[in-house]
Amino acid sequence: MIKYTENASLRPYNTFGVNAQAALLVEYSAEEDLPQIFADERVKGRPFWHVGQGSNLLFTQDYEGVILHGSIKGIRPTSQTEEVILLECGAGESWDHVCEWCVDRGFYGVENLSGIPGEVGAAAVQNIGAYGVEFKDVVVAVSVYDIVQGKNVIVSVADCHYGYRTSIFKTPEFKNRFIVTSVLLSLSRKAPFLLEYGNIKAALLERGFSLAQSSDKRKSNKSLRGKQITLHAMRDTICAIRSAKLPDPAVLGNAGSFFKNPVIPTVRYKALLSNHPDMPSYEVDASHVKVPAGWLIEHAGCSQRRVGDAEVYEKQCLVLVNRGHASARDIMQLAALVTDTVRERFDIQIEPEVNFI
Ligand code: EPU
Repeated sequence: MIKYTENASLRPYNTFGVNAQAALLVEYSAEEDLPQIFADERVKGRPFWHVGQGSNLLFTQDYEGVILHGSIKGIRPTSQTEEVILLECGAGESWDHVCEWCVDRGFYGVENLSGIPGEVGAAAVQNIGAYGVEFKDVVVAVSVYDIVQGKNVIVSVADCHYGYRTSIFKTPEFKNRFIVTSVLLSLSRKAPFLLEYGNIKAALLERGFSLAQSSDKRKSNKSLRGKQITLHAMRDTICAIRSAKLPDPAVLGNAGSFFKNPVIPTVRYKALLSNHPDMPSYEVDASHVKVPAGWLIEHAGCSQRRVGDAEVYEKQCLVLVNRGHASARDIMQLAALVTDTVRERFDIQIEPEVNFI
């Protein structure tokens, strides 16, 4: 199925709920539709942007080109051993549905990525990550339609050049060349669970779970008493941690983290600690750390700062929300205000994670 709509509203395709129009919206449901779409006179040679659920983008004005949306579905095991199962997932599947599907069937690896809005294709482009796991940790290969060659190509995980919220699919050279059609994930049939990030352990203990993993021989430690952690318990706990801090886009327009966590030299971080001893950090490599942008924004005094209906979310300052009828301009002005205030306070430049179109 291919559907062409001229002057289409993009409100359903951005979780900020901002109103913008596309000169042409093309919706399709199968990989086989793509050659036909790119041969169509209405599409050929025009600028285009492929969207998923629009959970990580902001339309700054009407789009004069073609907005594409695919709904290629399917979650299909392709091969399995006693330890590992390979799953092919269509780019238009909801990412969280994939996580739920795996958890329900006892496949380990994506439970910490539960609750992230968006589709599988966008997960592969953006290298989504949360609670110590990134998409790159579970993907084996990405299938794409190559517009230039007019054929399907399989890109191995090594060739995807995954980094922090980035991949080869975001580079200027490939952004307008490859369209993700499906991904091949490798899931494990066995634990361990990844419990190290933030307050996962505390949240599990609070729910009466033991932190002992099946390979753990120690018995006496207090934290090891309690119920065995299960995949469902892990997913539920992650979703609870998320929903305590991150607004549901169906209720309050937002695009998740609006900014990336800045990476700064460790020496610079140590110097900042003398004035800000409780500034958190995560080690990136021997000489760099990542500092949570949410902490910087909150401690620069920007919580609940507002431009029009755009506001810094009080429970997680990394998120900008639409309190009603925020325009893209309101959101961009607020983002600029936050960026400037953080730079003045800490001399750290923060960059948006959200894609501006
Ligand atoms: N913090 C504050 N104030 C805030 C926000 C955070 O002090 O307003 C502090 C927290 O107390 C904590 C630290 O900053 O000590 C880190 O906070 P959190 O664990 O919430 O994680 P984050 O670094 O703010 C990142 C990702 C999220 C992901 C979480 C969990 C980025 C840009 N964001 O946020 O991803 O869910 O870790 O892994 O890397 C997304 O990309 O859209 C997203 C939500």
